[in-house]
Amino acid sequence: MKVLVTGGLGYIGSHVTTLLLSSGYAVVCLDNLDNSSEDVLERIKAISGKSPEFKAVDVRDKIALQQVFTMHGPFDGIIHFAAYKAVEESIKKPLKYYENNITGLINILSCASVTNTPFIFSSSCTVYGQAKELPIDESAPLQPAVSPYGNTKKMGEEIIRDTCQSSKGFKAILLRYFNPIGAHPSGKIGEKPKGVPQNLVPYLTQTVAGIRPILNVFGNQYDTPDGTCIRDYIHVMDLAQAHIDSLVYLLKDMNVESCEVFNVGTGNGVSVLELIIAFERATGLKVPYTISAPRAGDTVSAYASTKKITHTMKWKPKYTLEEALLSAWKWEQQLISKSK
Ligand code: NAD
Ligand code: WQD
Repeated sequence: MKVLVTGGLGYIGSHVTTLLLSSGYAVVCLDNLDNSSEDVLERIKAISGKSPEFKAVDVRDKIALQQVFTMHGPFDGIIHFAAYKAVEESIKKPLKYYENNITGLINILSCASVTNTPFIFSSSCTVYGQAKELPIDESAPLQPAVSPYGNTKKMGEEIIRDTCQSSKGFKAILLRYFNPIGAHPSGKIGEKPKGVPQNLVPYLTQTVAGIRPILNVFGNQYDTPDGTCIRDYIHVMDLAQAHIDSLVYLLKDMNVESCEVFNVGTGNGVSVLELIIAFERATGLKVPYTISAPRAGDTVSAYASTKKITHTMKWKPKYTLEEALLSAWKWEQQLISKSK
């Protein structure tokens, strides 16, 4: 079985590529290295004992992409990660986000749909905004996006749905990730934020490592038990497994609808303060933090109903929050020792 992974050297893509190789799949990995580097390839090999076939291709380059299909296809499945993901930057530079995330998707979809290759898309719980009912299930109404980034995920889902409807035999799964955190247990691959991290866990680990003076907890007067926002933090390894299970489901189950949506989360809502305590418990280290002003646009509470993916694919998260945080810390330490 041969799988095409776009954005395969990035944070989530590198974990999925590693797990695919370890599970016996052949992988062709595309990345324009905009938010990753080629040394990830060696790390993937160090973990899995195998290498993906790597092509430094930009998915906006339609001709180069078609060549990949001609020279390296046919593929049994495509997992599409390649996109920009920085929420704040997308507010300042919306066209950069629409151009990359939408053009790239259209290009890969045109190759995937003519060849009827099963397709998996990285969507996000951001499409739900602040849901009225918790936990959030897949039928919850979608809210207007709070950022151009979020809008590329909503638009992306619609583009894929329309393509499935028009191309008989073309099937896709839209995975709505909640909050991916952590790293491979080996500490060899993980998330490498560019500049100041915007997400909680990399900011926290950089603070504990002394790179940032203090972690700002954005608001403690929300309508939640301890006043801080609640999220559903999912270990990146569990998320990676959900991609493989989705692929198996697309390939094996004849009853798959042409376009199906699945949440990928743990089902547990965790507050910012609870996450800090869990990190301290897991590592034995203190997290220096202060309560600061709320962040504009933050959702108060979001966690997944995982009934659909558990029932349909028998997928279940295996890792605890503490294990996820410990792996994030192991990765941070590895980054520090490499930079010395
Ligand atoms: P990442 O930035 O670490 O990985 C994306 C990879 O795609 C990078 O290696 C980058 O170099 C590459 N890339 C970007 N544009 C490209 C292009 N035009 N052509 C080829 N390669 C390109 O991000 P990630 O956290 O691994 O996210 C992967 C996907 O999951 C993205 O689509 C993201 O929007 C989505 N997602 C991420 C999260 C999250 O919290 N990390 C949550 C929900 C959804
Ligand atoms: C988590 C919690 C913050 C940083 C983002 C994207 C979203 C999606 C998932 C891709 C919140 C708090 C954070 C800090 C803090 N990604 N926080 N201090 O907000 O759920 O969403 O990731 O699709 O599009 O916006 O994740 O990690 O930024 O924040 O107190 O320094 O941590 O307020 O409550 P979020 P996050």
